[in-house]
Amino acid sequence: MRIPIKTLKNGFSIPEFGLGTWQMGGRRERNLENDDAADIKAIQTAIDWGITEIDTAEIYADGYAEELTGKAIKSYDRSKLFIISKVYGNHMRHGDVLSACKNSLKRVGVSYFDLYLLHSHNPSIPLKETMAAMDELMEEGLIRNIGVANFNVESLKKAQSYTSHPIVYDQVHYNLEYREAEKSGLLNYCQNNDIFLAAYRPVGKGNLLSSIPSVLQKMCDKYKKTTAQIAINWLLSQKNVITLSKTTNLEHMKENLGAVGWQMEPEDIEFLRKEYPDQKEISDVVPLG
Ligand SMILES: NC(=O)c1ccc[n+]([C@@H]2O[C@H](COP(=O)([O-])OP(=O)(O)OC[C@H]3O[C@@H](n4cnc5c(N)ncnc54)[C@H](OP(=O)(O)O)[C@@H]3O)[C@@H](O)[C@H]2O)c1
Repeated sequence: MRIPIKTLKNGFSIPEFGLGTWQMGGRRERNLENDDAADIKAIQTAIDWGITEIDTAEIYADGYAEELTGKAIKSYDRSKLFIISKVYGNHMRHGDVLSACKNSLKRVGVSYFDLYLLHSHNPSIPLKETMAAMDELMEEGLIRNIGVANFNVESLKKAQSYTSHPIVYDQVHYNLEYREAEKSGLLNYCQNNDIFLAAYRPVGKGNLLSSIPSVLQKMCDKYKKTTAQIAINWLLSQKNVITLSKTTNLEHMKENLGAVGWQMEPEDIEFLRKEYPDQKEISDVVPLG
């Protein structure tokens, strides 16, 4: 299937649904017992099934998720893939950003990233210095677009003011339960300023699916979709919102793909926005900063 592409007014385009790699190859450290073959197969199946956007980071499994990504994609046409990686908060000094990116490119085995993100805001290092390095990566052709992750409106505005390139993307914890992006005004800011809000943890690592509130069940019945599909589609149906999910389970992948290519009615999006129970105002993964 073809994943629909969303496009900003400035011309930046990205598939609305991608594959995450957090927990592939390990967590923060590489897990030597990891089933690498299953992770590689999941990435390859995703591509075969039309998911061409893959999100990884230098911090995932201490770089090993990037290596697994590289092993998985090496027989595919690079130009048809959309690869995202991220520089971690401890590498925000000018020279560290440049070397982190080059090391990530080497691990993935590609000559450029379609999108490169600051993984979080590190207030102890001047953002101006970090953004100058991101500009340099753009000018060297090592990255094609600049984004951030876990940035609040204030940091995002600062980052915008320090680069000569548009910031096209802020990847944050946002799903039916976690609403920091709404409450803080970030979603609104992205929608009004031509930036994608990329919602990570769309199915709450599967937890969102374990006990199903009646309001969610009502939408599953109305649209004849599963809870995962409604949870993902609720994000995709919103202006400037895209998402990505990690799975190595091919049944889950198939199910998640059933969330793309259709839209919920605006009144149902607002119904879930208002009525979904026990909403949390602050992320328990990485609060915006
Ligand atoms: N920038 C950041 O700070 C940040 C933070 C978190 C995540 N991310 C990125 O965003 C991606 C997505 O977030 P995430 O992986 O944390 O959360 P997620 O996609 O909501 O959850 C992934 C977990 O949910 C399970 N799952 C996926 N689809 C399912 C389904 N249909 N039914 C039941 N279980 C399902 C997966 O297990 P199975 O493998 O068994 O299916 C996996 O354990 C990450 O992989 C990462 O690339 C970025």
